Amino acid sequence: MRERLEMLKQEAVAAISEATRLEELRDIRVRYLGKKGELTSVLRGMGSLPPEERPVIGGVANEVRQVLESRLQEKEAWLEEAALEERLASERIDVTLPGMNPATGSLHPLNLVLEQIEDIFTGLGFQVAEGPEVEVDRYNFEALNLPKDHPARDMQDSFYITPEILLRTHTSPVQVRVMESREGTVPIRIICPGKVYRRDDDDATHSHQFTQIEGLMVDTHVSMSELHGVLLAFIEQMFGAGTEMRLRPSYFPFTEPSVEVDIFHPEKGWVEILGAGMVHPRVLERAGYDPEQVSGFAFGMGAERIAMLKYGIDDIRHFYNNDLRFLRQFRSE
Ligand code: DAH
Repeated sequence: MRERLEMLKQEAVAAISEATRLEELRDIRVRYLGKKGELTSVLRGMGSLPPEERPVIGGVANEVRQVLESRLQEKEAWLEEAALEERLASERIDVTLPGMNPATGSLHPLNLVLEQIEDIFTGLGFQVAEGPEVEVDRYNFEALNLPKDHPARDMQDSFYITPEILLRTHTSPVQVRVMESREGTVPIRIICPGKVYRRDDDDATHSHQFTQIEGLMVDTHVSMSELHGVLLAFIEQMFGAGTEMRLRPSYFPFTEPSVEVDIFHPEKGWVEILGAGMVHPRVLERAGYDPEQVSGFAFGMGAERIAMLKYGIDDIRHFYNNDLRFLRQFRSE
């Protein structure tokens, strides 16, 4: 019986040392040390031994159990460690690999400029207003002192939808809409960015659809010098401190007097950037304001023109062709 125990021990020790997985160890434990395992079945035969040998064999059996138990534990710990190491190795992250570069979009140069313009004017106390692109003749022209037979309508070739409805040719109708909605109250300080439409043939400087920003200020004592001050503040923030500006007399039916505003561009010399003037008394009146009590100035500029001057863009069609090589240049890093 002693030999059987010895053999069993050797067999089990060999099995343990060969085991490569934790499950195998579990099977070995059951097979040799479990209730129905081999050691138990050997011990079951102890009854047939002479009484004096029983404690001796019992001692040997215990020793075998202890040896196997400790080998199993050792091997178990070793396999667990190896499994952990394997997992760590397989899950390892190489922090020195270059990261993935997610493709980020960027603002369209026009929106970039519009945001800057809005920032500048909101900083000066203006609010941003909006109006419809499909407009009625009354707001687009008549309320702006441009009756149906007025020759100045020729300045803006229009897309008519019906004789009374058109795509707005400028953002000036928003002036009238805002004044009407304020019902005679002052002050009004708004700018209105938006798309406008003209029946132009597209070329480097013309587009049948472009973007304007309208400005309007109405209050009790608004004068031409306020217009000058606001525009100069805008121009210096947009094109740099010290940028020179000049006003030239001009004509718009909705302002009196009217001016065109130029800035001095280092390469191009004097360039026109917007139209402006004191809101015509008839425009104020039609919108519910008493021209004896209040006065106002207005201006209108083309966003593309501002962007072209600021970024040295030579063709207005770049804004609408969506060539990524063009657009990517305006990515902010
Ligand atoms: N609406 C004019 C245009 O599209 C621009 C303009 C000029 C707007 C003078 C104004 C202004 O508000 O006062 O050509």
